[in-house]
Amino acid sequence: MQKILNISEKRILKKKTLSSLKNIFKSIPTKYLYDEKGSKLFEDICNTKEYYLTRVEEKLLKKYSLEIVKLSQPEDIFEFGSGSSKKSVLLISARIKNFTQLSYSSLDISDKALNMSFDEIKKVNKSIKINLFKGDFLNDLNKIYLVKKPRLFLFLGSTLGNFDDKLAIDFLGNLRKVMNKKDYLLLGLDMVKDVNIITAAYNDSKGITRKFNKNILSVINKKYQLNFKKNNFEHKAEFNSDKSQVEMFLKSKIKHNIEFSDNSNIQIEAGERILTEISRKFSFTIIEKLLEKSGLKIERKFQDNKKFYSLLLIRTT
Ligand code: SAH
Ligand code: TRP
Repeated sequence: MQKILNISEKRILKKKTLSSLKNIFKSIPTKYLYDEKGSKLFEDICNTKEYYLTRVEEKLLKKYSLEIVKLSQPEDIFEFGSGSSKKSVLLISARIKNFTQLSYSSLDISDKALNMSFDEIKKVNKSIKINLFKGDFLNDLNKIYLVKKPRLFLFLGSTLGNFDDKLAIDFLGNLRKVMNKKDYLLLGLDMVKDVNIITAAYNDSKGITRKFNKNILSVINKKYQLNFKKNNFEHKAEFNSDKSQVEMFLKSKIKHNIEFSDNSNIQIEAGERILTEISRKFSFTIIEKLLEKSGLKIERKFQDNKKFYSLLLIRTT
């Protein structure tokens, strides 16, 4: 098995004070969705009939990969939050036909994702050099080694949509710092559309998204020695049109009382919602503003006929 380099220095648990632990119950950090089980469930979400994002992005990559690698001419492809890399291999295959020295790097928080990614890429090409980094793309971008060779950064799956404005600008701004003039970023974004289509994607009929959302409780239970029962929570995913984002919650069916070692406690009331994820639906106005504030600009846009989804090829300003 490929060696995974752990680039997160600080153990998350150690730096958590009691008060930040308490905050967790009002809004659980999204990264806790992706343990081994969560990463597998995410793959299953991508295959549900309601979750159009993966299918449309894949279709766009099939159509435009060649053009994207011709424009960007990468010698390294560096992906954030790669998951299984099933779509990324389309770009790798397109590039490696003309450039055999290509290397691929993935930075992901989940061991499972990194292992799936390794297997997927080896399937398409045996000789490509693969670097796996286990880390947090919100904290560890400054640890990315700088290289002279031209790079194509990938941030697919509309993962940028899981960040609010502040996080998005932090992330893009930090990425900008490690980008050279010849580097590109390929950003995959879900666009605003009919609300029913959007909400169905986060409430699939097989209940996989429900399982994925509730899995965060297992992760939290294990990390903080707690005992939340999945049956005491309901999966909720609703579109907030003011903010143009899906908001995912766990709604408590009962009153919870959590006691801490210092004898303090917090309550979660029956009916109270814990935010687990936002998923923004973009317009060009929104994304252009975020990019501009981060020192980045769109070089090329690729969209499907229905304009459900966008692949943006981005450079530094
Ligand atoms: N790019 C893939 C997967 C998207 S799901 C696709 O388009 O299908 C989001 C991915 O980001 C998961 O693999 C998850 O493990 C990873 N991830 C989530 N939060 C992260 C964080 N803070 N730092 C690094 N990786 C993270
Ligand atoms: N980036 C994905 C999205 O916003 C993440 C995602 C898909 C997700 N389905 C989910 C996150 C369900 C939480 C719950 O679509």
